[in-house]
Amino acid sequence: MPGGKLAKGAGSRGKVSQRSRNSGFGDFGAGKREGGFAWSEWQGNQSGMAMSGRKMGMRYDFDKMTDRRGTGSLKWDVPERELPMWVADMDFETAPEIIETLHGRVGHGVFGYSVVGEDWYRAYQGWWSRRHHLEIEAEWLVFCTGVVPAISSAVRKLTTVGENVLVQTPVYNIFFNSIRNNGRNILESPLVYDGREYAIDFDDLEEKLANPQTTLMLLCNPHNPVGKIWGRETLACIGELCAKHHVLVLSDEIHCDLTDPGYGYVPFASVSELCRENSVTCLAPTKAFNLAGLQTAAVMVPNPVIRHKLERGLNTDEVAEPNAFAVGAAVAAFEKGEPWLEELREYLAENKRCVRGFLEQRLPRIKVVPSRATYLLWLDCSAIAEDAAELAGFIRKDSGLYLTEGAEYGACGKQFIRLNAACPRERLKDGLERLAKSVSAWEALEKRDFM
Ligand SMILES: Cc1ncc(COP(=O)(O)O)c(C=O)c1O
Repeated sequence: MPGGKLAKGAGSRGKVSQRSRNSGFGDFGAGKREGGFAWSEWQGNQSGMAMSGRKMGMRYDFDKMTDRRGTGSLKWDVPERELPMWVADMDFETAPEIIETLHGRVGHGVFGYSVVGEDWYRAYQGWWSRRHHLEIEAEWLVFCTGVVPAISSAVRKLTTVGENVLVQTPVYNIFFNSIRNNGRNILESPLVYDGREYAIDFDDLEEKLANPQTTLMLLCNPHNPVGKIWGRETLACIGELCAKHHVLVLSDEIHCDLTDPGYGYVPFASVSELCRENSVTCLAPTKAFNLAGLQTAAVMVPNPVIRHKLERGLNTDEVAEPNAFAVGAAVAAFEKGEPWLEELREYLAENKRCVRGFLEQRLPRIKVVPSRATYLLWLDCSAIAEDAAELAGFIRKDSGLYLTEGAEYGACGKQFIRLNAACPRERLKDGLERLAKSVSAWEALEKRDFM
């Protein structure tokens, strides 16, 4: 993987401790009906959406039980009894309109070197103008094979060895790799958790930005894993502090199209001239349309001096050229994928409500941090575990449910677990039933220890 992810699982994006070539779904816990949370009552009860997940008039079928085993999937390359709900990709087929475009490209049968055409620039410009009210000039955009390659390249080109790169923890774990693998220091400004949700400690942030060794801040907008959409004022404050202390902002906006219905996000570069001129923004259709394996992203840099540097960095690192599918898939997503995305956002919001309802009723000691973006849920397990890594390991061993331990996202995530809810509702139900079973077993052990 470009940029050389840290050693865990030889360049993987997370932990893959066991591998298997088995195919087929594990059925542990599937279909169980246990006290407390009545799945049948969920039917038709919540915003008119049935347990099956399909609302009247929906065009796309997110209930379809895709089988990803045997496809070389990072997420699903686990033993047969396991149910993975960890790495951030979705178990849904992408939009049929994108599949059709890709079929057309495959049908052509010639896969020589590709270029980035005008249609690619227009697709990004149109999408951000229509959906996010940001007018992007074509020359601001540079193609890149992924957001992580872009971040690693930016770290190399825009900072020097030994400087500090600031991150707001808990945060997307691969940020740490992009910094550490390049010999820079990770400087954490932890988000403050009040027992319910997260906020920025601006005093701490300013103190760390004021350190002359701090030259870059990685902003996650919206934020993975806490699901927070940063507001305009918050972003303006960040922009002012960074400009004041000569710290460049890299805003990773890969999750921006996965806000809950009725919620938008604010592109960092749209906040003010200060923000626009002192930032690099990473954009991509890959999270929202489940295209991560096609390696297609864009870096947007309005400031020509920073852009020139970054473009040279991306080219030197050889991550600025598209494969045969990267441009077509992005164009199809942004030009034809909107109706699919709208239905996906409804489905995901319902999945998130489903997790919240289930936990409230069946596992009230686990709290879900309120989330208005991403399909990732950040579960506060502090009432039942000192160290959630042990809990996650126990759950995986006990029921096969594979979640991510919160400490992956920084030490302050130690008592949390991250759950990826982007799957057909039937699979989500299986996962939640496994979770309930394992947490009961864990709590029983806990009680026994105190006796
Ligand atoms: C915040 C964030 N940035 C980047 C990525 C990965 O980007 P890419 O696959 O384009 O390298 C992820 C994937 O989960 C993510 O959550």
